[in-house]
Order: sequence, then C-alpha cells, then structure tokens
Amino acid sequence: VTPELQSMLDAHELLTKFYHHLLVNTKDGQHALEYLLKRGFTRESIDKFQIGYSLNSWDFVYKFLSKREFSPEIMEKAGLIIKRERDGSYFDRFRDRIMFPIFDRNGNSIAFSGRSLGAEEPKYLNSPETAIFNKSKILYNFHLAKPSIRKLQQAVLFEGFADVIAADRSGVDNGIATMGTSLTEEHITLIRQNTQSITICFDSDKAGIEAAYRAGNMLVDAGCTIKVAMMSDGLDPDEYIKKNGPEKFRNEVIGASLTWMAFKFLYFRRGKNLQIEGERLAYIETILKEISKLTKAVEKDHYLRQLASEFSISLDALQQQLKQVFFAEK
Ligand code: CTP
Ligand code: MN
Ligand code: MN
Ligand code: MN
Ligand code: MN
Repeated sequence: VTPELQSMLDAHELLTKFYHHLLVNTKDGQHALEYLLKRGFTRESIDKFQIGYSLNSWDFVYKFLSKREFSPEIMEKAGLIIKRERDGSYFDRFRDRIMFPIFDRNGNSIAFSGRSLGAEEPKYLNSPETAIFNKSKILYNFHLAKPSIRKLQQAVLFEGFADVIAADRSGVDNGIATMGTSLTEEHITLIRQNTQSITICFDSDKAGIEAAYRAGNMLVDAGCTIKVAMMSDGLDPDEYIKKNGPEKFRNEVIGASLTWMAFKFLYFRRGKNLQIEGERLAYIETILKEISKLTKAVEKDHYLRQLASEFSISLDALQQQLKQVFFAEK
C-alpha cells in the first residue's frame, strides 16, 4: 500500500471507531441508538458490525481529521468530505445518519453507508467509488461470514445491511449482501472461491424478485447451485424476522428455500391468469423451455411430472413437446 492509500484506510479506521462511540456512548447519538433498538437491532450486533452515528454537523469530520494531520485532499479522495464549487471550501458527506462501515476481506474499513433516520432522501447515502472502495468487488459482511461460508459450504445472499444483521442475530451467520447493486462477475468469483452453493434471500417485493431472477441466472451460469428463499407478504428478511422471529426465519424461510427450478415455476406465473387458456399454454411452453435446459434426466422427469399433474396433461404429450422445444432451441 502507498502512503496515500494507508492514510485513507487510517481515516476510515479512526472514523469507524468514533462514529461507533458517538452512537453508543453519547447524548448526541441517543436518538440514533433508540431508532436502532426500536428496529430490533441489539447492542451485541451494533458492536459486532461496528455501527455508528455521524453528527448533525457540516464540518465535524473535517475538523476531527484535520486535528490528526490528515490533509483535505486525502479526506476528499477517501469520499469523506465534499468540495464546494463556489469557494473551494469543504463539507462533510455524512451528517446525522446511522453509519454502517463497509469492510474489505481483510477487515479494513474502506467505506461507509449512512442511513437517514427519518424520511430524508436518499435512504442510504454511500461513499463514492475511491482508490480503496470498488462497490462491484465488495460484498457486505464477507470478512465476517467467510469462515461460516466455508464451513457450511453455503452462502446466503441478501440485499442490504439490515437483512444481513438481522439474519446474523437469528443464527444465520453466513450472510453477505450486494448493497442494492446488481451482482457482478467479480462478486461471483469471490463467492465461488469459497462455496458453489448459494441461497438467494432478497426482498420478496417486485424489485427483489426480479433481482433474484437475474442474480440466480448469473450464478447458475457460473456453475453454482442456487436456492431461493422467499417471504410472505412482500416482506424483506429484516422485516420478516422482526415480525415472525428467528426460528421461523431459519425453518420456514432459509430452511424452506426453493430450488432454482421451483422458483422459476413461481417466477413465470406472476401476473398471469392461468385460468385463461392462452396464458396457460404460454406458461407451459415457458416452463418446458426451462426444463429442456436441465442436464439431469431425473430432474427433467421430476419437473415434467409436476407440470403434467398440475395441468392434467399427459406426460407423453409433455415429453413430445419437450423434444420440439429442444430442437427449436438448437
Ligand atoms: N441502497 C442504497 N441506496 C438507497 C437504497 C438502498 O445503497 N438509496 C442499498 C442499501 O445497501 C440497502 C439495499 O440497497 O440495504 C436494499 O435496499 P432496500 O431494500 O430499499 O433497503 P433496506 O435494506 O430494506 O433498508 P431499511 O431496512 O433500512 O429500510
Ligand atoms: Mn462497542
Ligand atoms: Mn429492496
Ligand atoms: Mn429491503
Ligand atoms: Mn429493510
């Protein structure tokens, strides 16, 4: 590491500790701590994930780091302060937010995401891309989850911070998150070095289901075995755990994850009225196309039978049409 990079890392380490201190020990951070506890975060996970609070100030970070001999140029390059066009003065990027430090795989804090306490937009304000933070390469919580991922030979992929942390509190400690961006090939490489088996546990809203479909396809193409965990009522994992408790989350969400194919059975029927003949036939054709991609004869047979029984079609007819789909795809 160059001195400049080291200095950016040092600034993050100092601030991570100080933000955490402000949250847990000071009157200024009290409302933020209360917000977190009300949401179901525990003191234990606030410590484990080094969650903090950034003061409602335009120049706290600037002064704090200046006193410790950091130059404004370094602070700006690290994404911690922003330069004003008008007069070249600086202001803090993060103000009055819950601070989630983001760590690299060695446990160095390299970026922050700050959540607003109220309705203020954006909900999460993130560090920009910097010399030490490349969002497409970083998975939240990878450094803590790695031993468990390797031991269980299974990773659980979430959308965001609150989900990873609530799952961890529920005994699911092999969780990592993309932090709202789409999964990249670099993310996949990182996961693949540790396990080939991944449970996708994204929000069960429309955006989350679409994202799960995209991520699942990428992971399948990379040779992974995928499962998809879904929650009722369009909840996200954090909301589900708050509402139903850790045990139900482990048994009825993670433990009851769908196979990739079973997920696609559901995915392709969303918004369709299968009582209508045309839509029903189109759906059957779509699923046949998916079945034709399977390589294992036993799996093919299993899902063909499922399709046959659900729509009261003869297995013969489905097998016939599967052959046609297969040749049409060639
Ligand atoms: N995200 C972001 N910027 C936003 C919104 C979301 O970077 N303006 C990222 C965050 O990492 C967030 C993830 O996308 O955790 C998932 O987004 P969303 O489901 O909207 O947020 P939640 O994680 O459910 O946040 P919360 O529970 O705090 O409302
Ligand atoms: Mn602490
Ligand atoms: Mn979401
Ligand atoms: Mn969510
Ligand atoms: Mn949430």
